[in-house]
Amino acid sequence: MKKENIKLYGKALYLATRIVELTEKTADVNLAREQILKNETNYKAKAIATAISYEIARRWGVLRKIIVLSQKEPLNKSSSLLRALLMVGTYELLFSKKKINFMAKAIEPYIKKITNIKILNRFKWVLNRVLEFNYPNPSKEDVLEYAFWKLFFPKWMTQKFLELYKENTLKILEILNTDAPITLRANIKKISAKKLLELLKEKYGFEGEISKLDDNFIVLKKSYPVVNIEEFQKGFFTIQDDVVGSFIRKLCENFEFKNVLDACAAPGRKTSYFSSLKENLKVFASDVSYRRLKALKRLYKTLSLPLPYLLVLDARKMPFKKSFDLILLDVPCTGTGTLRKHPERRWFLKEEDIEKKVNIQKEILNESKDYTSKYLVYSTCSLFKEENENQIKEFLEKNKNFKLIEEKRFDPSLEYKTGFYYAIMEKI
Ligand SMILES: C[S@@+](CC[C@H](N)C(=O)[O-])C[C@H]1O[C@@H](n2cnc3c(N)ncnc32)[C@H](O)[C@@H]1O
Repeated sequence: MKKENIKLYGKALYLATRIVELTEKTADVNLAREQILKNETNYKAKAIATAISYEIARRWGVLRKIIVLSQKEPLNKSSSLLRALLMVGTYELLFSKKKINFMAKAIEPYIKKITNIKILNRFKWVLNRVLEFNYPNPSKEDVLEYAFWKLFFPKWMTQKFLELYKENTLKILEILNTDAPITLRANIKKISAKKLLELLKEKYGFEGEISKLDDNFIVLKKSYPVVNIEEFQKGFFTIQDDVVGSFIRKLCENFEFKNVLDACAAPGRKTSYFSSLKENLKVFASDVSYRRLKALKRLYKTLSLPLPYLLVLDARKMPFKKSFDLILLDVPCTGTGTLRKHPERRWFLKEEDIEKKVNIQKEILNESKDYTSKYLVYSTCSLFKEENENQIKEFLEKNKNFKLIEEKRFDPSLEYKTGFYYAIMEKI
C-alpha cells in the first residue's frame, strides 16, 4: 500500500477508535460520530471512520464476546482506549480481513500523540488470540444463535421479535441491518417537494422520488450528504421519516382541531409539520428536556416558522387549567423501530428497559386524558406490543369515555424506513 494510503487508513482507524470510545459513554453512535468528527477536515478519513464505527455499533455485543473469549479476561480491566482499539481491531481483522501488524503500524503515529505506544503491544497480543477464534456457524434453524452470530442481535431481543414476527423474524432482522433511505420533508412555506427534487437533481445530482405516503416528502435513492448543502442550512427542507410525516398530515386533513398540545415535542419534527400544514393552528409544544426544546427552537428558526408556545414540563404532571382540542403523545419509547438508523441501540437497550418505558408511557397517558376535549393521539417508534397495542388496549378498557378511531403499525420493510405505531382516540 502506498505511504499516503497507510496514513489515511491510520487516521480513519484512529477516528473510528475515538468514536467507539465515546459511543461506549454516550450509548449513541450518531452523537459520538458528530462530536469526534466535527473539526476533522479529511473527508476520506471521515467517511471510512464513519463506516467502520457503524459496523462496529451493529456488532457491539458480538465483538465484545469474541474479545473476552479470546483474551480470557473481562473487558473492564482494560482502559476505555484499549477497549475501543480492540473493538476496531477485531472488526477489521475478522470482517475486513486486515493484517494485525499493518493496523498497528498505521495507527501508531496517532496513538503516539495521546499515550504510550506500548498499548499497541497488548493490541497485537489480543488480536493474535482473536485470529485463532473459531467463529460459530449456526444454521438458520437455530434462530437465536444465527441471529447473534450472523445478524448481530442480542438473544433476548430476537426472542421478543420471534413472538411478534414468528417465521418472518430473520427477514425482519435482515431488513433492520440495511441502511434506511433518507427522506426529506420539503418546507412547503419555501418550496414544493417537486421543485426541491428538481433542484437537488440539477445542482447536486441527488436522485430520488416523491414519497407515495405524503407528497411533501422526497425519498432519496442513496445516503447523499444532504446536511452539508446550503438548502438544508437555509431551511428548504428538513429530515423526517415520511411514514411519520404522513401521519401528522392525516391528522391535519381528516380531523377538526383549532389547537394542539404536542406533549413530548422535542426536537420538534412533528410539531413543526403541524405548524407548516395548518396556518391558524395554535400550537403548544412541551418536553421534559430544556436542552431538547432548544433544538426545537433552532428547527423552527431554520424553517422560518412562527414559534409555538413552549413549555418545559413533565407530561406526567400537567399544570393546565384548560383543555386542548388534540393532544399528541409521541412518548419516550425503546426506539426499536429505528434500529436501522441507530444500530447500537440493540446492544445498549436492556430487556428491563421495556417495562420502565411502558410505565412512563402509562403515566403520561393517564395524566393527559383530563386535558383533552376531543382527541388523544398516541405514537411510538417502538415495535413491541407492550408499548403499542397492549398499552392502548389497557387504556381504553380503563377509560370508557375514550373510543379508538384508528390504530396502525408500520413494521420495518424495504418500503418503510422505520417501525412506527399510532393510535387516534376520541373523547366521548
Ligand atoms: C420520541 S421523542 C419525541 C420526538 C418528537 N416528537 C419529534 O417528532 O421530533 C420523545 C420525547 O419525550 C421527551 N420526554 C421523555 N420523558 C418525558 C416526560 N416525562 N414528559 C415530557 N416529555 C418527556 C424526551 O425528552 C423526548 O424529547
